[in-house]
Amino acid sequence: MLLSGKARLAGVVGWPVAHSLSPRLHGHWFERYRIDGAYVPLPVRPEDLELAFHALPRLGFLGWNVTIPHKERAFALVDRRDGAAERMGAVNTVLVHPDGTLEGRNTDGAGFLASLAAAVPDFRRTSGPALLLGAGGAARAVAWALLESGTPELRLANRTPERAERLARELEATFPGRLATVPWPVPTEALADLALLVNATSLGMKGQPPLPLDLALLPRTALVTDLVYVPLETPLLAAARARGNPVVDGLGMLLHQAVPGFRHWGGCEPTVDEALRACLLEALEARG
Ligand code: ATR
Repeated sequence: MLLSGKARLAGVVGWPVAHSLSPRLHGHWFERYRIDGAYVPLPVRPEDLELAFHALPRLGFLGWNVTIPHKERAFALVDRRDGAAERMGAVNTVLVHPDGTLEGRNTDGAGFLASLAAAVPDFRRTSGPALLLGAGGAARAVAWALLESGTPELRLANRTPERAERLARELEATFPGRLATVPWPVPTEALADLALLVNATSLGMKGQPPLPLDLALLPRTALVTDLVYVPLETPLLAAARARGNPVVDGLGMLLHQAVPGFRHWGGCEPTVDEALRACLLEALEARG
């Protein structure tokens, strides 16, 4: 690590923060680009969040990521927000500007799109309907990103149908005529004309049951992606891969959502590549 008196400082604010992969991710880039600086875990209790947001810029931090449970409160503690943060009501990246003001961003949706684009460059979202499973914060970010980037029809399905219906109503106001809701568990007929299938529920995650979903009618051209990345190949992705569908795992979104923050505090454009993936996979494996 290169650290002088002029070191560039950044970190991740969470409580607890020990689970965060961000120090590994940004640390990899700090080393790779030989940046004089560091990215550190910042364990901040909820009652200290406001204090931390005041203190970090004064301590010379150029910015920080925000993780559970602070993303919503961070929204209220910044001076301005980008459009995605405004829509999500949550901030995952804080940039400190030279005048000391704080800009809050939400990079999850753009990270999701960048991950798909990097993994499957010739995939066209505009070519058919997408089905999104889940209605939590991650699903919301994906839904906005897909609709803004031209998905002609978005179907939402969620265990608690009211949440999917609420999200559909919210999106309908901006994207009229492009939303539908589908029952849970999803009948296989709802897959018959899909271009894209996205799992944004926690099903398939280590310790959780797999998604109850029969892929029999899914076109083999449909791209299947999972936001879950532990395990990297979820039962959904394994089933899709086995029948010949293109698949994208959840690690890409985690890596790509980090790019805008690093651009600011690292001062250069970082690359998301195999070396970075390998670094994060090693960290995930070390956790067991
Ligand atoms: P995040 O912000 O990461 O999206 P979340 O808001 O807790 O997290 O959302 C988790 C998603 O996984 C929700 O869509 C949740 O469904 P509910 O809205 O019905 O809670 C879904 N989920 C979690 N456990 C599930 C289970 N056992 N079966 C089906 N869906 C599940």
